[in-house]
Amino acid sequence: MSCKTALITGIAGQDGSYLSELLLAKGYTVRGIVRRASYPHTERVDHLLRAHDERDPDCRFKLDYADLGDVSSLRNVVEQVRPDEVYNLASQSHVGISFITGESTLDFNAIGPFRLLDTLRRMGAPTRYYQASSSEMFGASPPPQNETTPFLPQSPYGVSKVAAFYLTRMHRVAYGMFAANGILFNHESPRRGINFVTRKITRGIASILTGEIRKLYLGNLDAKRDWGFSGDYVEAIWRILQQPEPDDFVIATGDTRTVREFLEETFSLLGLVWEDFVEVEDRYMRPAEVPALLGDASKARRVLAWEPKVRFKELCRMMLEGDLAAKGLTLEAARALGSTLRPGKK
Ligand code: GDD
Repeated sequence: MSCKTALITGIAGQDGSYLSELLLAKGYTVRGIVRRASYPHTERVDHLLRAHDERDPDCRFKLDYADLGDVSSLRNVVEQVRPDEVYNLASQSHVGISFITGESTLDFNAIGPFRLLDTLRRMGAPTRYYQASSSEMFGASPPPQNETTPFLPQSPYGVSKVAAFYLTRMHRVAYGMFAANGILFNHESPRRGINFVTRKITRGIASILTGEIRKLYLGNLDAKRDWGFSGDYVEAIWRILQQPEPDDFVIATGDTRTVREFLEETFSLLGLVWEDFVEVEDRYMRPAEVPALLGDASKARRVLAWEPKVRFKELCRMMLEGDLAAKGLTLEAARALGSTLRPGKK
């Protein structure tokens, strides 16, 4: 069992919650930073908060307030926690919305990591730093993409992640810090945010079945993504920080599917034809699109001994079952309900 301390930004997100579970199981003390909100969004880690009493001086799971836009809050938390490892998972993570909130996306996603890296550098402690880099950085570069593929970002989000990638690398090269990038391709789960396309679809199907909505409105159905399972990807994230030397790694499944294929697979699990329930709307089209992502993770396989376990069909089923369960439905009950549905009607 480890007695290390990890600090996670973005701990209340999908990856933050799975990574926390993984590190706690390994014996880490886990501290996470959250931003102040009038309605805290800690649903994904509430089970961990309940299991750990923060009044206990040896408490192994605790959240602190800090903000990637506020360097003094970062300094306070880093000085107090003295982490062995920092996982910077926090970001404005929605590509489409970054076209509307470009400036704050750049500030949070690019200057934010700089503030954190700079704080760690000034402290001079041998902290290991992980940067959540993204396949969105490859943008228009044709697939397959690996660590040597040129970055050609297509969105403010993509540009912000390229800046953070190079800032991380620069702290490694210039100051000798252990600063590493995981270039993660899309990764999903039942804990995925509700406005990413996979979760929007599985949650939408559950709401169609219960009659809350009649149709699902989507954008580009031709985009291809390499979709993996977040629970598998946090294992890779951890392994990246356990290497003898800091380095950058592509993490992907090596399988690419269109949004249309995701629709086909999930609707067909209930015996439904997606075309009866989906409409394409211009408002969900992006000013520039990343047409096709397909990761070549052979370096991660070789160096990290990492392999994804969950494949596309299992991921679709897992996500659909999660959203059905939230409505009190099993897959079998949902199939029966589905057979009573008329296309596009309640
Ligand atoms: N969100 C969304 N909503 N996307 C849609 C919709 C819709 O209604 N309709 C079609 N799409 C298309 C998008 O245009 C995109 O091509 C694809 O579905 C996937 O969109 P998202 O699920 O929003 O993910 P993303 O690929 O843009 O970004 C995700 O993956 C990146 C890694 O490549 C995010 O998780 C990023 O934070 C992450 O870095």
